[in-house]
Amino acid sequence: MGEQWLSSSMVAPCLLLLLFGIVGGGGVLRVHGQADNLGFLSIDCGLPESAAGYVDNVTKLSFVSDAGFIDAGTNYNMSTEYITPSMGKSFHNVRSFGGGASARNCYTLRNLVSGLKYLIRAKFMYGNYDGLNRVPVFDLHLGVNYWTTVNITDADTPVIVEVIAVVPGGSAQVCLVNTGSGTPFISSLDLRPLKNLLYPMANATQGLVLLARANFGPSDGKLIRFPDDPHDRIWFPMSKPTEWSEITTPLKVQNIDNDNFEAPTAVMQTAITPINASSPIEFFWDAEPSANDPAPGYICILHLSELQLLPRGAARQFFVTINGLLWYPRGFSPQYLYSNAVFNSNANYGFHQYNVSLNATPNSTLPPILNGLEIFSVVPTAGVPTAAQDVSAITAIRGKYQLKKNWMGDPCVPKVFAWNGLGCSYAVSIPPSVTGLNLSASGLSGNLSSSFASLRGLQYLDLSRNNLTGTIPDSFSQLSSLTLLDLTGNQISGSIPSGLLKRMQDGSLTLRYGSNPNLCTNGDSCQPPKKKKSSKVAVYVAVPIAVLLVIVLLSVLFLCMLRRRQGTTSRNSVRPPNKAGIASSHSHSRVSNEHSSLRLDNRRFTYAELEAVTDGFRREIGKGGFGRVYLGTLEDNTQVAVKLRSENSDQGEQEFLAEAQTLAKIHHKNLVSLIGYCKDREYMALVYEYMSEGALHGHLRGRGNNSRCLTWRQRLRIALESAQGLEYLHKGCDPPLIHRDVKPANILLNANLEAKIADFGLLKAFNSGSDTHVSTNRLVGTTGYTAPEYLLTYQLTIKSDVFSFGVVLLEIVTGKPHILNDPERTSITQWVQRCLARGNIESVVDTRMSGDYDVNGVWKAADTALKCTAQLPEHRPTMTDVVAQLQECLDLEAARCDANGGFYSAGSGGNPSGYSGYGTDISTDVSQSSTGFEMERLGRVPTLPTGPDVR
Ligand SMILES: *[C@@H]1O[C@H](CO)[C@@H](O)[C@H](O)[C@H]1NC(C)=O
Ligand SMILES: *[C@@H]1O[C@H](CO)[C@@H](O)[C@H](O)[C@H]1NC(C)=O
Ligand SMILES: *[C@@H]1O[C@H](CO)[C@@H](O)[C@H](O)[C@H]1NC(C)=O
Ligand SMILES: *[C@@H]1O[C@H](CO)[C@@H](O)[C@H](O)[C@H]1NC(C)=O
Ligand SMILES: *[C@@H]1O[C@H](CO)[C@@H](O)[C@H](O)[C@H]1NC(C)=O
Repeated sequence: MGEQWLSSSMVAPCLLLLLFGIVGGGGVLRVHGQADNLGFLSIDCGLPESAAGYVDNVTKLSFVSDAGFIDAGTNYNMSTEYITPSMGKSFHNVRSFGGGASARNCYTLRNLVSGLKYLIRAKFMYGNYDGLNRVPVFDLHLGVNYWTTVNITDADTPVIVEVIAVVPGGSAQVCLVNTGSGTPFISSLDLRPLKNLLYPMANATQGLVLLARANFGPSDGKLIRFPDDPHDRIWFPMSKPTEWSEITTPLKVQNIDNDNFEAPTAVMQTAITPINASSPIEFFWDAEPSANDPAPGYICILHLSELQLLPRGAARQFFVTINGLLWYPRGFSPQYLYSNAVFNSNANYGFHQYNVSLNATPNSTLPPILNGLEIFSVVPTAGVPTAAQDVSAITAIRGKYQLKKNWMGDPCVPKVFAWNGLGCSYAVSIPPSVTGLNLSASGLSGNLSSSFASLRGLQYLDLSRNNLTGTIPDSFSQLSSLTLLDLTGNQISGSIPSGLLKRMQDGSLTLRYGSNPNLCTNGDSCQPPKKKKSSKVAVYVAVPIAVLLVIVLLSVLFLCMLRRRQGTTSRNSVRPPNKAGIASSHSHSRVSNEHSSLRLDNRRFTYAELEAVTDGFRREIGKGGFGRVYLGTLEDNTQVAVKLRSENSDQGEQEFLAEAQTLAKIHHKNLVSLIGYCKDREYMALVYEYMSEGALHGHLRGRGNNSRCLTWRQRLRIALESAQGLEYLHKGCDPPLIHRDVKPANILLNANLEAKIADFGLLKAFNSGSDTHVSTNRLVGTTGYTAPEYLLTYQLTIKSDVFSFGVVLLEIVTGKPHILNDPERTSITQWVQRCLARGNIESVVDTRMSGDYDVNGVWKAADTALKCTAQLPEHRPTMTDVVAQLQECLDLEAARCDANGGFYSAGSGGNPSGYSGYGTDISTDVSQSSTGFEMERLGRVPTLPTGPDVR
């Protein structure tokens, strides 16, 4: 077994190339915008918040300051004697967590897509930043799971760690944990999204921690990274001229279909074979037991491709064995110019040392070949974080009261790092939850956050001795497990909610409220505190006004009909007396400040007036079940759309009246507004604001004069605005309203491409108080957009609209119709699911956008759409959730556009989620001489301490 071909001292120089980066590699960078599309994020830790993000002038990479990702730690500059001219700027400064910092400090990477796979890489270079010349050892956690131990061995040796993991939520946290062996610090942090197809061994319950990644045979010592590797993995060059001969090809090495690794062609184009053709290729590494994992398992991936066109009769075939066990028993023959891989998908060997050997089979005429190698250890990622609702509630509380404390990372997990002041319950089989919260004397000011009431399992809540003002929210009554509420010593006013009073009376709750001079404690006799314009008052007022409106509207209709019957010809004089009444309605609706700038005078038209307005119904602009829609112009030149009910309309008088009445009541900037109506003999019409850009449908199909393609940002805005319109129907109206016919044809765009929902003919009130659903005896809506439960049972909920909206959102992302022929009739939902299961987002996105979008945003939008189209209504999000998700997509896109526009700033300050200038660290060539130099200087392995090793 004497073949020694891979040594640790050879790994080291490769690493240095990465760190000290490189000189003279001008032409490597592709167009900057492309990197952005990949959703890469590069964070320079310790770069001051005030410093703008920068593009490294050597590597052409965009870095952002870490200020928006963490709110603990102190920035330091590396000691100048460690700075070399070729070193990447991101190493010049670090963020350090000494002094009063808590044991665990976390970076939060937001706007990730739940369930997607990411490569996360952290770099550490001590450089005696603190002047103490003491190198630390500390742990890294990914969320609630142990990731790795960072062992800094000297001041000028950088350490790089990498994990490939599936993120369980919309964000991921990278935490530095002080284990008592020195102060944790960090130089930079990289995030690279990966397709789910890649590295199938990384799944929801296990992550892959990199031990080694090597490119065999390059004679130029060049490090391979982005853009040569589109996933920005870092491949260290390996060659040993005394032992191996090198084979190279200038030809492209293709990835096979559904390749699980997509090894880049630049890596696969070079390979080694033993010089002594009868020798095997062998290497080994030692298992690295740790306190967390005494018997770690490993995944080893050999990347293999034939680079020589073999003559007739020649064959290259070899066995791969691990510790003498046949690993690939059949004998492997690499395919010519196709990359393939031999790997183990289970890491359950428990050896102390792993010996891998590639031996030619008896039939082979050529020695084995090896192009690339990756070795990973496996870490479990199955730790269960705190219940999501509790996390968002406590995070909102932290934000509102600006609590810093040690409130970082998961609130309850791991137990030893549970947040100060939090009590948690750790039941088996359900996520931990928050049961107690002690914020006594924590300097809280402002009113009582309703987020406290979202901590549903709360048993005690101590807010005593703060400076809290305002009233006790009614929602506190919903905390059914609450046994102690201490509000002593604040400035709380108002009265105690009756729900809490009742619980006090029956003895299930102790409420302490002393020293709140303005709090009224004797129930009903309290004077209501002076309120400004509370929303509650608005609701009470709005309801009677709405009722009044309907009455007014109906009586006007009646009056109008009466006059018509009397045969009066004074058509121009019929002006409804109720103008003021109707106009006032929206000032009391809950979204009063949001309504459209269009004046909402619900005017009543005669048929003759409509004839005049539309110039004799000359220009038809649309057609629906109800009848035809005509373009009209009012006296003041306002353009309007006149929807005239046709004789044989399938919308009856009832529905017409329903739509008119509903529209008179609801006002929202994302619902088409009614300007007037006509009920004149048999003629019925509705007059709307004119939406000059027509329906979204036409824009997506690119038909007629709407053929210009909507950008991703425009699409997102349209999606967001339509979602807001629907959210208003569902949430802002009481009872909630169900639209029942959400589809691109019913989303209209005005000249500014603002979207508004139209066509309320099928609108249905949904009394959420008593009913759990509405049953209808007639199926309405449009095939392909209707929710499955409605088709089956005729039962409607607001979630039926969510389903339809999901289909619309998929159309917006893909630009495809909701039913495809691919080649059989397939719903767009199934089609997108199929593509995404293969991790293939690019194949889903509308090609007319030419790749000009933020990939994370597209993933998130597609993911949201698929959640909306879940089979079971209870699995679908609410429109409120959808609005939030789309807003995040839009923020991502806006950040990307800003970055591309050159207005690049550190993604910090007011917009911590808007990491913008992604970009990538890009490798450039290294001259041989610098390789030699660095090799001499280093002499040992920094990040790959054990492997692959000499034998
Ligand atoms: C990079 O920028 C720094 C100052 O910002 C400058 O001193 C240095 O010469 C630049 N290096 C190259 C290779 O342009
Ligand atoms: C860190 O690395 C050094 C050198 O390899 C080793 O001696 C030491 O035991 C390591 N420390 C820990 C805590 O793993
Ligand atoms: C992840 O992969 C491991 C090893 O193949 C397997 O045991 C585990 O069940 C997988 N987890 C999931 C959630 O698929
Ligand atoms: C080697 O060749 C023989 C004869 O063609 C065949 O039976 C055998 O399966 C081959 N072995 C391998 C490992 O392919
Ligand atoms: C409480 O708030 C009042 C008014 O804002 C302020 O004057 C007072 O100093 C605050 N007290 C504490 C202890 O923060």
